[in-house]
Amino acid sequence: MKDLRSFIRDIPDYPRPGILFRDITPLLADAEALSRAIDVMAEPFLDAGVEVVAAAEARGFIFGTPLAMRLGAGFVPIRKPGKLPFDLHSFAYELEYGTDELQIHVDGIKPGQKVLIVDDLLATGGTIEACLRLLEKCEAKIVGCSFLIHLESLGGAARMEPYDVHAALRYEGDDEEDE
Ligand code: PRP
Ligand code: MG
Repeated sequence: MKDLRSFIRDIPDYPRPGILFRDITPLLADAEALSRAIDVMAEPFLDAGVEVVAAAEARGFIFGTPLAMRLGAGFVPIRKPGKLPFDLHSFAYELEYGTDELQIHVDGIKPGQKVLIVDDLLATGGTIEACLRLLEKCEAKIVGCSFLIHLESLGGAARMEPYDVHAALRYEGDDEEDE
């Protein structure tokens, strides 16, 4: 089949002038590419004993649930405020303009459970850092983080230390590399 990268559509100047948006919707719409993406995102963790996949809404859910099924794991949602009904852990984080917040149920993950965190994209790292802090509050054992795309030039990997980044597709400015 065609390279996974060929299913990512570049949209210049979206959502603001000067931003090159990596649109994943062509990949999602192609049955073979979607299945292949899930395979590549799961591959390093097949024998890691993952018990739970955690992912943040909205795009993290698209990849998190099939990855959980591929790994024989459960799925725990991390959500924006006002969406989860039970007792919560919360973490607020800075955006370029203003702040945002993510939440998880306090009993979503049992202490010591092996958790893989999944998202479509690692950019500045604000979202994954919030997910990591929430999972640490749950006393999860974090086995790794898996992304479809890593935009390396935005420095997100540094905000994830000491955890490693696994990404199916990497972009360094205009350069590109596949894993
Ligand atoms: C996007 C993307 C990642 C995050 C990456 O989510 O899905 O979660 O940005 O950026 P960062 O590394 O700079 O945090 P966004 O909150 O825009 O919305 P969505 O997932 O609800 O579409
Ligand atoms: Mg997101």
